[in-house]
Amino acid sequence: MKTLRAIACLSLVLAAPGAFAADKVCKLEIASTDQMSYDKKELAVAADCTSVELTLKHTGKLAVAQMGHNWVLTKTADAQPVANDGLTAGVANDHIKKGDTRVIAHTKLIGGGQSTSVTFPTSALKKGEAYTFFCSFPGHIALMKGTLKFG
Ligand code: CO
Repeated sequence: MKTLRAIACLSLVLAAPGAFAADKVCKLEIASTDQMSYDKKELAVAADCTSVELTLKHTGKLAVAQMGHNWVLTKTADAQPVANDGLTAGVANDHIKKGDTRVIAHTKLIGGGQSTSVTFPTSALKKGEAYTFFCSFPGHIALMKGTLKFG
């Protein structure tokens, strides 16, 4: 294990520094509650971010099957159709239809007291495009949705 880690570190050092110089991971945080809400309606990703690490916290107490929350990102026009198709997908599939290519990024579904995160490249986003984030747990998109802006 130690050796593996050493090799991993070494290969990072040996890789051309230029390959990493422009990388910028931008961190976003959003919290969710037992009242079926997010604490933010808008998220912004600066133009120079090469990837986004989104952390979702569930500050409530209810179980995932009762008040599950995730964070799903799609183009705004795709949000409601993706939520509709996720209705019957079940908690085990994070209420997202398997292989749904309209989903740009998503976290898993979590219950009260839990947190989760997802990292995705901004190459999946276009400047000027409207993106919507929402919770795909059945019915939650009505209250749990917001806008993500890039650039
Ligand atoms: Co939810």
